[in-house]
Amino acid sequence: MVKDLSQTTKKSSSRWDTSTYIGDWYQVVGLLVDKEFFVKLLEAINLPKDASILEIGIGSGKWSAAFAIMGYKTTAMDMSSEILEQAQRNFPNIKIEYIVDELPNLTSEASKRKYDLVFNEGVIEHFLDRNERVAAIRAMGKCCIEGGYVFFYVPFLSDKEDEHRYTSSKELFDELADAGLKPVFADFMGIEVTNGGGKPVDRMHTQLRVVGKKE
Ligand SMILES: C[S@@+](CC[C@H](N)C(=O)[O-])C[C@H]1O[C@@H](n2cnc3c(N)ncnc32)[C@H](O)[C@@H]1O
Repeated sequence: MVKDLSQTTKKSSSRWDTSTYIGDWYQVVGLLVDKEFFVKLLEAINLPKDASILEIGIGSGKWSAAFAIMGYKTTAMDMSSEILEQAQRNFPNIKIEYIVDELPNLTSEASKRKYDLVFNEGVIEHFLDRNERVAAIRAMGKCCIEGGYVFFYVPFLSDKEDEHRYTSSKELFDELADAGLKPVFADFMGIEVTNGGGKPVDRMHTQLRVVGKKE
């Protein structure tokens, strides 16, 4: 890791407070036992056992940790070296390659390699401009092998000012198509948000999951 790019991104740099991303093993175990999610993902993309996975925008690093534990060769990329260092502290002893780079103009050596799956959760909705989102999606597609997949996990009907509000899966499908990816799979996932004491608050966050194929 050579430089911290987080100060160069105008809109979102203040948002990524490293202390928010203190991940733990319970999160990873939660992902690994979420059979419904992984079965659907793996069915949708038929990932080979020796596949390589690139996650871009890693936050706590829990997804990369889960992929690495599943045996995939995993590269974790983020614009913030602090985030990457925190992820390493969160999940020591897990073999993950950590890389600093920033969407949409990826310049690292690792971004020039090709991966079977490029994964992101909670990232592209932070590009509020559609052209920037399409550029970020295209950059992810470039990191993918021919016939490989890019997985997107975004909030649906977000009510946050600094997140794009997706109102249909078609909207993200169209962005994928404009970025040169073929949309192949989409679903919604309702997540009940609790107030920390286990009591549900009065609304549902819903996530939209979409997979694009590089052809
Ligand atoms: C909401 S967090 C993702 C949460 C993550 N999926 C998790 O499991 O914790 C967004 C992450 O994307 C990174 N990020 C935001 N904009 C980025 C960009 N343009 N290029 C690369 N990383 C970016 C942030 O530093 C942050 O780590």
